[in-house]
Amino acid sequence: MDKNFYITTPIYYPSAKPHMGHAYSSIIADFFSRFKKIDGYNVYFLTGTDEHGLKIQRSAEKQNKDPKAFCDEISKTFEDLTKTLNLSNTDFIRTTENRHKISVQKLWNILEENNQIYLSKYSGWYSVSDEAFYNNDEVENKDGSKVAKLSGSIVEWVEEESYFFKLSEWEKPLLEFYEKNKNFILPESRRNEVISFVKNGLKDLSVSRKSFTWGIKVPSNENHIVYVWLDALTNYLSSLKYPDESNDLFKNFWPADIHIIGKDILRFHAIYWPAFLLAAKIKPPNRVYGHGWILSGDEKMSKSKGNILDPLEIINIYGLDPLRYYLLKEVSFGNDGNISEDKLENCINSDLANNFGNLCQRVLSFTEKNCASVIPDHKFIKDDLVILESLNNIDKIRSFIDNQDINQYMNFIVDRLFASNKYFNDQEPWKKKDDKLRLNTIVYTSLELIRKITILLYPVMPKTSVKVLNTFNIKEDEIDFASLKNNEILKQQSKINKLDILFKKIDK
Ligand code: MSP
Repeated sequence: MDKNFYITTPIYYPSAKPHMGHAYSSIIADFFSRFKKIDGYNVYFLTGTDEHGLKIQRSAEKQNKDPKAFCDEISKTFEDLTKTLNLSNTDFIRTTENRHKISVQKLWNILEENNQIYLSKYSGWYSVSDEAFYNNDEVENKDGSKVAKLSGSIVEWVEEESYFFKLSEWEKPLLEFYEKNKNFILPESRRNEVISFVKNGLKDLSVSRKSFTWGIKVPSNENHIVYVWLDALTNYLSSLKYPDESNDLFKNFWPADIHIIGKDILRFHAIYWPAFLLAAKIKPPNRVYGHGWILSGDEKMSKSKGNILDPLEIINIYGLDPLRYYLLKEVSFGNDGNISEDKLENCINSDLANNFGNLCQRVLSFTEKNCASVIPDHKFIKDDLVILESLNNIDKIRSFIDNQDINQYMNFIVDRLFASNKYFNDQEPWKKKDDKLRLNTIVYTSLELIRKITILLYPVMPKTSVKVLNTFNIKEDEIDFASLKNNEILKQQSKINKLDILFKKIDK
């Protein structure tokens, strides 16, 4: 049977150019996507931009631009970023595309047909920055302004005719759904947060706006536009050609396996989204993972503080793969983390140059000098098998991924790199010139270790890993996670290609 896997990033607001927070969500999703690919899955990986609503309309107005032209320009910078980050996404969706509009209007019609939507009047607080409605008890006065307690963003009072979704009816079914699907919301702390919010009672949700025009029209009433979150969430379906539920994309990939999101948008994904879907009789996704924030120093990035981290600047200085490695290894997944030049440089020196780079360089140059750069013969003894087999438990490694335990996965790699360097040191192949078979076997074992660890590093640092695997003539589309079980993939006498220095140590 075909193994299919559907993963998404949030779709980003093209209100300003991308920053490190956006890059982080995308790199995380790419990591999982690439792992699943080398584990034999057909992967559908979706990202894109969320282009409607007041936030975008006002950003465009500020620059005296037509909203569509404004979105075209900034959405392009997000699409370019997918290339710069070397994302393996299958699709890039823009909510201003017609294929998306069709899905949103269809979903709306179904909700209406299912008696889930009614017309009334909204009066309450609205944050344009969050595109979210807030209750009275969710706002506070701060420095002379009314702000949302949750996000700190400014709210404004809204009173207008609006369609409502009967969210209150879904309180019990949602709690039952969370109970039945224990891993629907991860990490656990966020699951608890959501459950207690729902238990406090859900009010019907305003799902249309009338006072501005930048959005998708409500099919039955052109004076209203669809609430931007109902519009945006539907992107996960529209990319699969919903409402055509019989097409192969939808049949193979829905429900999504995992939505990767930041903790700031948990409520929309973990409450509204499954409620809309259940109300439309569509299966909810299997999992929503809310990761933490990337802080600049110790603070949240913001335009007003002038501390926005630009991924392009960091990539220009340090390169993409070191940044990907750092974000995956040094940020405790699920929690907030930060980047500083100092920490990034330490990580490059210790993990990449001294550990991984060093293992590759010394083993390959020893092979060049002593084995004429071809894979030598071998006859394993216990020492060799012990270390090789410490990388054979693919079920354990797979479970790190399936539990989104990125840190265990990364720690496992680092630990095996240390062990492999130690093995090469302890075995002292340079003292075995009189025992050619033993020398060759140590080299062979070390090359196999490099092969195995580099396969594990592929989802983390695809470009670097492909370079290393190419020295063994393994091409990108041949990378196979399950081959870790095998200790004898490298074929005797086959040529080893030259490998340039992978990471330069940074002088500090
Ligand atoms: N458009 C909505 C999402 C709709 S999904 C159907 C949105 N866009 S956003 O551009 O404001 O942010 C998208 C995501 O970027 C956040 O959920 C989060 O995943 C990521 N980040 C934005 N700032 C971040 C940090 N400082 N740190 C980590 N990620 C953060 O919300």
